[in-house]
Amino acid sequence: MNEKKSFYLTTPIYYVNDIPHIGHAYTTIAADAMCRYKRMKGFDVFFLTGTDEHGQKIQQSAAAKGLTPRELADRTVRNFQDLWKALNISNDDFIRTTEERHYKTVQSIFKKLLDQGDIYKGKYEGWYCVPCETYVPESSMGEDKTCPDCKRPLQMMEEESYFFRASKYVGQLLAYYEKNLKGVMPRSRYNEIISFLKGGVRDQSISRTTLKWGIPVPGDDAHVVYVWFDALINYVTACGYLDDRKKFDTFWPEVRHLVGKDIIRFHCVIWPIMLLALGVNPPVSVFAHGWWTVEGEKMSKSKGNVVDPFEMVERYGADPFRYFLLREVPFGLDGDFSESAVVGRINSDLANDLGNLLNRTLQMIDNFFQGSLPASGRRGEREEEIVQRAAAVLAEVDEKIEDFAFDDALKSIWSFISRGNKYIDETMPWKLAKEGKTEELSSVLNTLYDILRLSAMLVAPFIPETAARIWEQLGLDGEPVNMRFDGFSWGDRAPGHTVKKGKVLFPRIDLEEWKKAREAKAPAPAQPASEEPAIVHEELVGIDSFKAVELRVAQILNVEEIPKSKKLYKLTVDLGYEKRTIVSGIKEFFTPDELLHKKIVVVVNLQPAKLCGVESNGMLLAAGDGKKTTLALLTPDKDIPLGSRVS
Ligand code: ME8
Ligand code: MG
Repeated sequence: MNEKKSFYLTTPIYYVNDIPHIGHAYTTIAADAMCRYKRMKGFDVFFLTGTDEHGQKIQQSAAAKGLTPRELADRTVRNFQDLWKALNISNDDFIRTTEERHYKTVQSIFKKLLDQGDIYKGKYEGWYCVPCETYVPESSMGEDKTCPDCKRPLQMMEEESYFFRASKYVGQLLAYYEKNLKGVMPRSRYNEIISFLKGGVRDQSISRTTLKWGIPVPGDDAHVVYVWFDALINYVTACGYLDDRKKFDTFWPEVRHLVGKDIIRFHCVIWPIMLLALGVNPPVSVFAHGWWTVEGEKMSKSKGNVVDPFEMVERYGADPFRYFLLREVPFGLDGDFSESAVVGRINSDLANDLGNLLNRTLQMIDNFFQGSLPASGRRGEREEEIVQRAAAVLAEVDEKIEDFAFDDALKSIWSFISRGNKYIDETMPWKLAKEGKTEELSSVLNTLYDILRLSAMLVAPFIPETAARIWEQLGLDGEPVNMRFDGFSWGDRAPGHTVKKGKVLFPRIDLEEWKKAREAKAPAPAQPASEEPAIVHEELVGIDSFKAVELRVAQILNVEEIPKSKKLYKLTVDLGYEKRTIVSGIKEFFTPDELLHKKIVVVVNLQPAKLCGVESNGMLLAAGDGKKTTLALLTPDKDIPLGSRVS
């Protein structure tokens, strides 16, 4: 028997000072689709993700929250693990850099490199960016000594430090890349890395004395290992570098790293050099994907436009969200996220193309053959063409996935699904039924059934839950993700097999209703936490974050209806020192009379937002009962001047 081929794929390990957002979800979803696909191709897959838990950034954000770094890490890691569950991520391992296996590996690697002279002690002085955990060379500093990446002020630091002799291995790495043209992907990144390497690489400072939260340098407790040197090693720790040679020898020769374009130098320069120094092969490839913005803007906490993937799953489901991210943008290029684009994809690709094909086919098998799959009969020209198309799609998808071109793979799959819908229009089975052409009708429905059976397998790596639902409705056992592409053969389903038409896969989202729901959410006065949130994820905020919200007492002076809106009122409120307009989604709960002259609490430093064409400058506070049946306004319990600060 042939031994299975192995395949090892990693995501970056994410920092635990932040809660997960769509950027993290993106990389992990892409890696998941890749790994699921490889499993269906018969590979023995090892899929790794995890968290990066050391360093100054984590230490500082823990301190700001009044937690120890470990407490912060323990809390945040749950958010990541919960998210991967919610998104059906099929990782085989989850590594945390605070685990003992990792400490041991990092210390042993440090010691080995020290012993062989590739690590030495020296002095480091330079401009350091704390949030980015990196020294910034003067040549790339921004104006006023700011970080070129995050634009925040740099600090001058001087410390005794251990250095890694990276300069020594540049030639060796260049030679490696010359032979491995896919060592960095896509091609534009490869070129970027080659020219960077040709400019030379300095020895790297890899220890810190300025903080405690890290892995101690073996034999020198005053130093901890620099967080990036520590973090990169996770990829070999989890693969058994130290304690499981068999696993390491199986998977390491097939390792690929998937990362965002922000961290390619660490992955395509420093990391492979570390590996060369250890006498280990650099990765087969590092693929750097592009960057998501949100509605045209960079995602940032301060802008408040960070997209919460939990919310997307709750609102649209894991599969539509997964599908959207991988289909919308060519992998490797930057993309822009908007919810309306998600809704567009759901309605067109998922409901209209895929959902309809299933629905129409099963409905006809029900109507014309009482739900029992008819025999395939003789294949005509069209059927032959479809069978050939199927083989071509399998080959195309394979090639695209090999290149991480998920969007192209999906386009190819969807062209096959569309071919199915077109086949229905061409053959008009209902007409064949009327005319009593039973043999031809059987053949058409049998062919459609197999188009669906193969489609379910093809979409399974991307939208596994949906694939399983299709599978079930087709009356098939097991799950498509556990099937093998090479086990698929056209027309091998025995006739008489019973289909089980079930619920519609993707109900169409009514755009008008959707817009209204979103508008009502935007001002967010009546956003009661639902009684049983699907996913609980907490983030503690420090007093400073709370203080950043300016709350004041105001009085409602005027209430106007907004034509066209069922939910919104336009309110004029008096803050004592000024009057403002606030648009609020509370119309369903109050008449204008009930509101007039009420004293309320208002968030006054909220970014202005346009709702139904009216600019809103603030938000009023109200509490909901979780069932959206009642809403209570927050009012001061005794008379107090307008404009008084609430704290
Ligand atoms: O860099 N668009 O962790 P991190 C696309 N701990 N992808 C995005 C994104 C966006 N807007 N924002 C984040 C670290 N990502 C280190 C890694 S690895 C040994 C150590 C994704 O939490 C993308 O994959 O800052 C990016 O590389 C990663 O999150 C950065 O995650
Ligand atoms: Mg980052």
